[in-house]
Amino acid sequence: MRVLASAPAKIILFGEHSVVYGKPAIAAAIDLRTYVWAEFNKNGRIRIEAKDIKIPGLTVSFSESEIYFETDYGKAAEVLSYVREAINLVLEEAGKQKGVTVSITSQIPVGAGLGSSAAVAVATIGAVSKLLGLELTKEEVAKLGHKTELLVQGASSGIDPTVSAIGGFLYYEKGTFEELPAIELPIVVGYTGSSGSTKELVAKVRRSFEEMPDIITPILNSMGKVVEKAKEVILADYDKEIKFQLLGQLMNINHGLLDALGVSTKSLSDLVYASREAGALGAKITGAGGGGCMYALAPGKQSEVATAIKIAGGMPMITKISREGLRIE
Ligand code: MEV
Repeated sequence: MRVLASAPAKIILFGEHSVVYGKPAIAAAIDLRTYVWAEFNKNGRIRIEAKDIKIPGLTVSFSESEIYFETDYGKAAEVLSYVREAINLVLEEAGKQKGVTVSITSQIPVGAGLGSSAAVAVATIGAVSKLLGLELTKEEVAKLGHKTELLVQGASSGIDPTVSAIGGFLYYEKGTFEELPAIELPIVVGYTGSSGSTKELVAKVRRSFEEMPDIITPILNSMGKVVEKAKEVILADYDKEIKFQLLGQLMNINHGLLDALGVSTKSLSDLVYASREAGALGAKITGAGGGGCMYALAPGKQSEVATAIKIAGGMPMITKISREGLRIE
Protein backbone atom coordinates (compact mmCIF):
# COMPACT_ATOMS: atom_id res chain seq x y z
CA MET A 1 0.00 0.00 0.00
CA ARG A 2 1.23 3.47 -0.93
CA VAL A 3 -0.46 6.67 0.27
CA LEU A 4 -0.07 10.05 -1.39
CA ALA A 5 -0.83 13.28 0.46
CA SER A 6 -0.26 16.89 -0.47
CA ALA A 7 -0.30 20.20 1.40
CA PRO A 8 -0.10 23.82 0.24
CA ALA A 9 2.30 26.71 0.77
CA LYS A 10 1.03 29.77 2.60
CA ILE A 11 1.50 33.48 2.74
CA ILE A 12 1.13 35.46 5.93
CA LEU A 13 -0.89 38.52 5.00
CA PHE A 14 -0.49 40.24 8.38
CA GLY A 15 1.12 39.49 11.74
CA GLU A 16 4.23 37.32 11.26
CA HIS A 17 6.59 37.37 14.24
CA SER A 18 4.10 39.13 16.55
CA VAL A 19 2.00 35.92 16.28
CA VAL A 20 4.81 34.10 18.15
CA TYR A 21 4.04 36.47 21.08
CA GLY A 22 0.36 35.55 21.20
CA LYS A 23 -0.92 38.30 18.87
CA PRO A 24 -3.32 37.39 16.07
CA ALA A 25 -2.27 36.94 12.42
CA ILE A 26 -4.01 36.49 9.06
CA ALA A 27 -2.70 33.97 6.53
CA ALA A 28 -3.84 32.15 3.42
CA ALA A 29 -2.92 28.91 1.67
CA ILE A 30 -1.70 29.39 -1.91
CA ASP A 31 -1.66 27.15 -4.94
CA LEU A 32 1.86 25.68 -4.69
CA ARG A 33 1.97 22.21 -3.12
CA THR A 34 4.30 19.61 -1.61
CA TYR A 35 3.54 15.94 -2.36
CA VAL A 36 4.52 13.08 -0.07
CA TRP A 37 4.15 9.35 -0.77
CA ALA A 38 4.39 6.98 2.19
CA GLU A 39 4.77 3.20 2.22
CA PHE A 40 6.04 0.50 4.57
CA ASN A 41 9.50 -0.93 3.99
CA LYS A 42 10.95 -4.19 5.16
CA ASN A 43 14.15 -2.99 6.82
CA GLY A 44 12.30 -1.39 9.72
CA ARG A 45 13.92 2.03 9.32
CA ILE A 46 12.81 5.48 8.30
CA ARG A 47 13.83 6.23 4.75
CA ILE A 48 13.33 9.62 3.13
CA GLU A 49 13.65 10.24 -0.57
CA ALA A 50 13.49 13.86 -1.62
CA LYS A 51 13.34 15.00 -5.19
CA ASP A 52 13.18 18.58 -6.35
CA ILE A 53 13.77 20.28 -3.03
CA LYS A 54 14.19 23.77 -4.44
CA ILE A 55 16.82 25.78 -2.65
CA PRO A 56 17.79 29.12 -4.19
CA GLY A 57 20.44 28.47 -6.81
CA LEU A 58 20.33 24.73 -6.30
CA THR A 59 17.97 21.84 -6.88
CA VAL A 60 18.90 18.98 -4.62
CA SER A 61 17.91 15.48 -5.61
CA PHE A 62 18.32 12.67 -3.17
CA SER A 63 17.36 9.10 -3.50
CA GLU A 64 17.54 5.94 -1.52
CA SER A 65 19.38 7.61 1.33
CA GLU A 66 18.48 7.01 4.94
CA ILE A 67 20.68 9.42 6.79
CA TYR A 68 21.03 12.46 4.66
CA PHE A 69 19.37 14.71 7.21
CA GLU A 70 22.57 14.13 9.18
CA THR A 71 24.79 15.29 6.35
CA ASP A 72 25.72 18.91 5.80
CA TYR A 73 23.42 19.72 2.95
CA GLY A 74 22.47 22.88 4.85
CA LYS A 75 18.94 24.00 4.04
CA ALA A 76 17.97 20.60 2.63
CA ALA A 77 19.06 18.98 5.86
CA GLU A 78 16.88 21.47 7.77
CA VAL A 79 13.82 20.54 5.67
CA LEU A 80 14.49 16.88 6.16
CA SER A 81 14.67 17.26 9.91
CA TYR A 82 10.99 18.36 9.76
CA VAL A 83 10.18 15.16 7.88
CA ARG A 84 12.03 12.97 10.35
CA GLU A 85 10.36 14.56 13.38
CA ALA A 86 6.94 14.40 11.70
CA ILE A 87 7.31 10.66 10.98
CA ASN A 88 8.50 9.94 14.53
CA LEU A 89 5.55 11.86 16.01
CA VAL A 90 3.04 9.90 13.93
CA LEU A 91 4.67 6.56 14.81
CA GLU A 92 4.53 7.57 18.47
CA GLU A 93 0.86 8.62 18.13
CA ALA A 94 0.05 5.23 16.56
CA GLY A 95 2.18 3.36 19.14
CA LYS A 96 3.91 1.50 16.31
CA GLN A 97 7.51 0.90 15.33
CA LYS A 98 7.49 0.27 11.59
CA GLY A 99 9.83 0.86 8.69
CA VAL A 100 8.39 3.71 6.62
CA THR A 101 9.66 5.16 3.35
CA VAL A 102 8.50 8.62 2.32
CA SER A 103 9.18 10.23 -1.04
CA ILE A 104 8.83 13.98 -1.35
CA THR A 105 8.45 16.27 -4.29
CA SER A 106 7.77 19.95 -3.84
CA GLN A 107 6.82 23.02 -5.85
CA ILE A 108 7.58 25.31 -2.89
CA PRO A 109 10.98 27.01 -2.70
CA VAL A 110 12.74 26.34 0.61
CA GLY A 111 13.39 29.27 2.95
CA ALA A 112 11.28 31.63 0.87
CA GLY A 113 8.85 32.37 3.70
CA LEU A 114 6.14 30.39 1.92
CA GLY A 115 5.88 27.67 4.55
CA SER A 116 7.81 24.91 2.76
CA SER A 117 8.73 23.24 6.08
CA ALA A 118 5.17 23.32 7.39
CA ALA A 119 3.81 21.96 4.09
CA VAL A 120 6.28 19.07 4.07
CA ALA A 121 5.51 18.31 7.74
CA VAL A 122 1.73 18.42 7.18
CA ALA A 123 1.84 16.29 4.00
CA THR A 124 4.14 13.77 5.75
CA ILE A 125 1.85 13.55 8.79
CA GLY A 126 -1.16 13.16 6.47
CA ALA A 127 0.42 10.39 4.40
CA VAL A 128 2.06 8.44 7.24
CA SER A 129 -0.97 8.62 9.54
CA LYS A 130 -3.21 7.32 6.76
CA LEU A 131 -0.72 4.53 6.06
CA LEU A 132 -0.80 3.54 9.73
CA GLY A 133 -4.60 3.58 9.76
CA LEU A 134 -4.89 6.61 12.03
CA GLU A 135 -7.91 8.76 11.16
CA LEU A 136 -6.64 12.21 12.12
CA THR A 137 -8.72 15.33 11.58
CA LYS A 138 -7.07 18.26 9.81
CA GLU A 139 -6.92 20.06 13.18
CA GLU A 140 -5.07 17.08 14.70
CA VAL A 141 -2.64 17.06 11.77
CA ALA A 142 -2.08 20.81 12.31
CA LYS A 143 -1.33 20.21 16.02
CA LEU A 144 1.24 17.51 15.16
CA GLY A 145 2.68 19.89 12.54
CA HIS A 146 3.04 22.52 15.26
CA LYS A 147 4.78 19.98 17.53
CA THR A 148 7.15 19.16 14.66
CA GLU A 149 8.03 22.85 14.28
CA LEU A 150 8.61 23.21 18.02
CA LEU A 151 10.99 20.23 17.97
CA VAL A 152 12.96 21.56 14.99
CA GLN A 153 12.78 25.34 15.51
CA GLY A 154 12.45 25.61 19.27
CA ALA A 155 9.76 28.32 18.86
CA SER A 156 6.73 28.49 16.59
CA SER A 157 3.26 30.00 16.73
CA GLY A 158 1.75 27.07 14.82
CA ILE A 159 0.25 29.32 12.14
CA ASP A 160 2.13 27.77 9.20
CA PRO A 161 1.07 24.12 9.77
CA THR A 162 -2.48 25.25 10.63
CA VAL A 163 -2.92 27.13 7.34
CA SER A 164 -1.28 24.31 5.39
CA ALA A 165 -3.55 21.66 6.96
CA ILE A 166 -6.83 23.62 6.89
CA GLY A 167 -6.34 25.69 3.70
CA GLY A 168 -8.19 28.88 2.76
CA PHE A 169 -8.03 32.19 4.50
CA LEU A 170 -7.54 32.13 8.31
CA TYR A 171 -7.45 34.46 11.29
CA TYR A 172 -5.18 32.72 13.80
CA GLU A 173 -4.56 33.42 17.46
CA LYS A 174 -2.83 31.28 20.11
CA GLY A 175 -3.51 27.92 18.49
CA THR A 176 -7.11 28.64 17.48
CA PHE A 177 -8.36 29.81 14.13
CA GLU A 178 -11.37 31.30 12.43
CA GLU A 179 -12.05 30.90 8.71
CA LEU A 180 -12.46 34.26 6.97
CA PRO A 181 -14.74 34.70 3.95
CA ALA A 182 -12.96 34.18 0.65
CA ILE A 183 -12.16 37.50 -0.97
CA GLU A 184 -10.34 37.70 -4.29
CA LEU A 185 -7.05 39.38 -3.43
CA PRO A 186 -5.15 40.60 -6.49
CA ILE A 187 -1.67 39.93 -5.15
CA VAL A 188 1.80 39.41 -6.56
CA VAL A 189 4.42 37.51 -4.57
CA GLY A 190 8.04 38.59 -5.12
CA TYR A 191 10.83 36.16 -4.31
CA THR A 192 14.24 37.67 -3.56
CA GLY A 193 15.96 34.43 -4.57
CA SER A 194 17.72 34.22 -1.22
CA SER A 195 16.49 32.37 1.81
CA GLY A 196 16.09 33.10 5.49
CA SER A 197 15.99 30.62 8.35
CA THR A 198 12.75 30.92 10.35
CA LYS A 199 14.53 29.46 13.36
CA GLU A 200 17.27 32.12 13.25
CA LEU A 201 14.91 35.02 12.57
CA VAL A 202 12.54 34.05 15.39
CA ALA A 203 15.60 33.82 17.67
CA LYS A 204 16.83 37.25 16.49
CA VAL A 205 13.49 38.89 17.40
CA ARG A 206 13.54 37.06 20.75
CA ARG A 207 17.01 38.48 21.52
CA SER A 208 15.84 42.06 20.76
CA PHE A 209 12.73 41.47 22.86
CA GLU A 210 14.83 40.32 25.80
CA GLU A 211 17.39 43.12 25.43
CA MET A 212 14.88 45.94 24.90
CA PRO A 213 11.42 44.85 26.08
CA ASP A 214 10.21 48.45 26.51
CA ILE A 215 10.86 49.17 22.83
CA ILE A 216 9.93 45.84 21.25
CA THR A 217 6.69 45.27 23.20
CA PRO A 218 4.89 48.34 21.74
CA ILE A 219 6.00 47.27 18.22
CA LEU A 220 4.49 43.80 18.75
CA ASN A 221 1.34 45.37 20.23
CA SER A 222 0.99 47.65 17.18
CA MET A 223 1.34 44.64 14.91
CA GLY A 224 -1.49 42.96 16.81
CA LYS A 225 -3.64 46.09 16.30
CA VAL A 226 -2.82 46.12 12.58
CA VAL A 227 -4.11 42.54 12.31
CA GLU A 228 -7.32 43.30 14.23
CA LYS A 229 -7.96 46.30 11.96
CA ALA A 230 -7.25 44.20 8.85
CA LYS A 231 -9.79 41.61 10.00
CA GLU A 232 -12.35 44.37 10.60
CA VAL A 233 -11.74 45.71 7.07
CA ILE A 234 -12.01 42.23 5.50
CA LEU A 235 -15.34 41.61 7.26
CA ALA A 236 -16.75 45.13 6.70
CA ASP A 237 -19.35 45.90 4.11
CA TYR A 238 -17.14 48.38 2.21
CA ASP A 239 -16.81 48.32 -1.52
CA LYS A 240 -13.73 46.62 -2.90
CA GLU A 241 -11.84 49.79 -3.72
CA ILE A 242 -11.99 51.12 -0.14
CA LYS A 243 -11.20 47.66 1.25
CA PHE A 244 -8.06 47.32 -0.89
CA GLN A 245 -6.98 50.89 -0.10
CA LEU A 246 -7.22 50.28 3.66
CA LEU A 247 -5.60 46.83 3.49
CA GLY A 248 -2.74 48.30 1.42
CA GLN A 249 -2.19 51.01 4.03
CA LEU A 250 -2.14 48.40 6.81
CA MET A 251 0.35 46.27 4.82
CA ASN A 252 2.71 49.24 4.57
CA ILE A 253 2.48 49.88 8.31
CA ASN A 254 3.07 46.18 9.01
CA HIS A 255 6.14 46.21 6.75
CA GLY A 256 7.57 49.22 8.61
CA LEU A 257 7.08 47.45 11.94
CA LEU A 258 8.77 44.28 10.62
CA ASP A 259 11.66 46.44 9.41
CA ALA A 260 11.88 47.92 12.92
CA LEU A 261 12.17 44.36 14.28
CA GLY A 262 15.18 43.85 12.00
CA VAL A 263 13.81 41.09 9.74
CA SER A 264 13.86 42.97 6.42
CA THR A 265 16.81 42.99 4.01
CA LYS A 266 17.82 45.41 1.28
CA SER A 267 16.53 43.08 -1.44
CA LEU A 268 13.17 42.64 0.33
CA SER A 269 12.79 46.39 0.77
CA ASP A 270 13.85 47.00 -2.86
CA LEU A 271 11.01 44.73 -4.04
CA VAL A 272 8.55 46.36 -1.62
CA TYR A 273 9.37 49.91 -2.81
CA ALA A 274 9.50 48.91 -6.48
CA SER A 275 6.00 47.40 -6.13
CA ARG A 276 4.59 50.51 -4.47
CA GLU A 277 6.12 52.74 -7.15
CA ALA A 278 4.56 50.55 -9.84
CA GLY A 279 1.11 51.15 -8.37
CA ALA A 280 0.64 48.55 -5.62
CA LEU A 281 -1.63 49.81 -2.85
CA GLY A 282 0.53 48.06 -0.27
CA ALA A 283 3.57 45.80 -0.09
CA LYS A 284 5.25 43.95 2.75
CA ILE A 285 7.41 41.01 3.74
CA THR A 286 5.57 37.72 4.03
CA GLY A 287 6.89 35.09 6.43
CA ALA A 288 9.98 35.21 8.59
CA GLY A 289 11.97 37.64 6.38
CA GLY A 290 15.78 37.72 6.17
CA GLY A 291 15.38 37.06 2.43
CA GLY A 292 12.54 34.99 1.07
CA CYS A 293 9.39 36.71 -0.18
CA MET A 294 7.34 39.87 -0.07
CA TYR A 295 3.87 40.38 -1.46
CA ALA A 296 2.06 43.31 -2.99
CA LEU A 297 -1.65 44.12 -3.25
CA ALA A 298 -2.08 45.42 -6.76
CA PRO A 299 -5.65 45.59 -8.08
CA GLY A 300 -5.54 46.24 -11.84
CA LYS A 301 -1.74 46.52 -11.71
CA GLN A 302 -0.57 42.93 -11.24
CA SER A 303 1.44 42.75 -14.44
CA GLU A 304 3.05 46.21 -13.89
CA VAL A 305 4.01 45.18 -10.35
CA ALA A 306 5.33 41.81 -11.55
CA THR A 307 7.54 43.64 -14.08
CA ALA A 308 8.76 46.09 -11.43
CA ILE A 309 9.67 43.16 -9.14
CA LYS A 310 11.63 41.56 -11.98
CA ILE A 311 13.49 44.80 -12.79
CA ALA A 312 14.33 45.21 -9.08
CA GLY A 313 16.01 41.78 -9.16
CA GLY A 314 13.21 39.59 -7.80
CA MET A 315 11.17 36.72 -9.14
CA PRO A 316 7.44 37.53 -9.41
CA MET A 317 4.75 34.90 -8.87
CA ILE A 318 1.10 35.66 -9.52
CA THR A 319 -0.67 33.23 -7.24
CA LYS A 320 -4.14 32.38 -6.00
CA ILE A 321 -5.50 31.50 -2.58
CA SER A 322 -6.06 27.75 -2.32
CA ARG A 323 -9.22 26.71 -0.52
CA GLU A 324 -7.79 23.25 -0.08
CA GLY A 325 -5.41 22.36 2.73
CA LEU A 326 -4.17 18.82 3.36
CA ARG A 327 -5.41 16.43 0.70
CA ILE A 328 -5.12 12.65 0.64
CA GLU A 329 -4.78 12.08 -3.09
C1 MEV B 1 6.88 32.15 9.73
O1 MEV B 1 6.15 31.84 8.56
C2 MEV B 1 6.03 32.94 10.67
C3 MEV B 1 6.71 33.36 11.98
O2 MEV B 1 5.77 34.21 12.64
C4 MEV B 1 7.05 32.17 12.85
C5 MEV B 1 5.83 31.49 13.45
O3 MEV B 1 4.75 32.06 13.51
O4 MEV B 1 5.99 30.33 13.91
C6 MEV B 1 7.97 34.17 11.73
